[in-house]
Amino acid sequence: MSLFAERNYRIDTENAFKVGPHIVRVEQQKGEVIKLNLGEPDFAVPKHIKDEIKRQLDLDNTNYCDPKGLFSLREAISSQINQTRGLKTNPEQVVVFPGGKPSIGLAQQVYCESGDEVIYPSPGFPIYESFIRYVGAVPVPLHLEEAANFTFSPDQLADKITHKTKLIYLNFPSNPTGGVATRKQIEEFANVILEHCRPDMRVYSDEIYENIIFDGQQHYSISSVPSMSERTIIASGFSKSYAWTGGRIGYAVFPTIEEADVLKKLNINYFSCVPPYNQEAAREALENPLSKQAVKKMVDTFETRRNLIWKQINQIPGICCQKPGGAFYLFPNISGICEYLDLIEKHQHLPIEEQSSPANLFQMFALYGHQVAVLDRKSFGQIGAEGKHFLRLSIASEQSLLEEGVLRIKNAAEDISGLDKFLRQRPDLKST
Ligand SMILES: Cc1ncc(COP(=O)(O)O)c(C=O)c1O
Repeated sequence: MSLFAERNYRIDTENAFKVGPHIVRVEQQKGEVIKLNLGEPDFAVPKHIKDEIKRQLDLDNTNYCDPKGLFSLREAISSQINQTRGLKTNPEQVVVFPGGKPSIGLAQQVYCESGDEVIYPSPGFPIYESFIRYVGAVPVPLHLEEAANFTFSPDQLADKITHKTKLIYLNFPSNPTGGVATRKQIEEFANVILEHCRPDMRVYSDEIYENIIFDGQQHYSISSVPSMSERTIIASGFSKSYAWTGGRIGYAVFPTIEEADVLKKLNINYFSCVPPYNQEAAREALENPLSKQAVKKMVDTFETRRNLIWKQINQIPGICCQKPGGAFYLFPNISGICEYLDLIEKHQHLPIEEQSSPANLFQMFALYGHQVAVLDRKSFGQIGAEGKHFLRLSIASEQSLLEEGVLRIKNAAEDISGLDKFLRQRPDLKST
């Protein structure tokens, strides 16, 4: 007999949220932690969007509304998708969700039978992998190549596809690596998919970082490749582009109205609708020309920080970091640190119940010993992550904080005696 249904043991979590209580504890005991773990822009929501939220509240636009999303917002989304991707979608293909996250798991519920295979990038946003076993599907991680700027080759993709492949997640610009695939690569992936996949397979293209892209690159969606819009779910949202993570507005554009209506039915079952005052403000975000300026200002700031922090992090002995082309993360390889601190050996000798990964030990030591919060490789997909020693650092903090964070990582990377003390005490294992 068990209180919880068995499926609860098959769902994972997002460590970015799990590390919060550890940070609170360290701050209570030792003082400020530099938080390079956060996946949210450190900017305010642009004023014209905030004004529209307030205006809508004053209009008492606070009731239940269309579970599929307000028509005005779906119309603005469809029009923006058509302009930016060269498509001819219609608002009835669009469904609005409370954030970019819910449609990730809902898509698995909608498309996958037990035993179907789901291909997803690893390292990748953890929710792709987390849901797969929960819905009884089979996880098929597609390991991103560090040397190829965290993309993969068409052959690697082709190798993963079988007649059971039902969903393929893509995410460019990517969390956690900041990797951006070129237009040529995206076209090659599309050709592989068109050649090898069954027609009822769907690509879930998570484009939530579409506007946060550097070096003059243009975002290119796989839905723009001829014949791909019929198979692609385009997912995006307002959390990252408009620094509005608490607004909880995201959307997905489905290949058919029939599919969108199945998702609408799930919305009715789960949460009825997304707050209409926020939806009107999201429409404002898409339609008001002031948004372009606000997004540009934020992205330029991220690019300046990326340039600076990428250089600084690469100066730490034992670290090697690819230059991210988008999003607001760095994903350094810390194999050299693990070697210098003898972390692989030390990790192996821990009692089984205390083992996680060498990079996780470093993450926890950096937090408890040097007051800097980062996330480890395993936070972004567990299957096949053994032997891969990486961290994710967010650059969504002021420059001075980022520089202090890098300094603290450097100090942790050199602190052999501090690490030994940490391993004797393991303060991170005491319940929070
Ligand atoms: C790749 C990716 N997809 C989806 C999401 C979820 O976004 P939201 O906060 O809008 O639910 C995130 C958030 O970090 C993300 O990084």
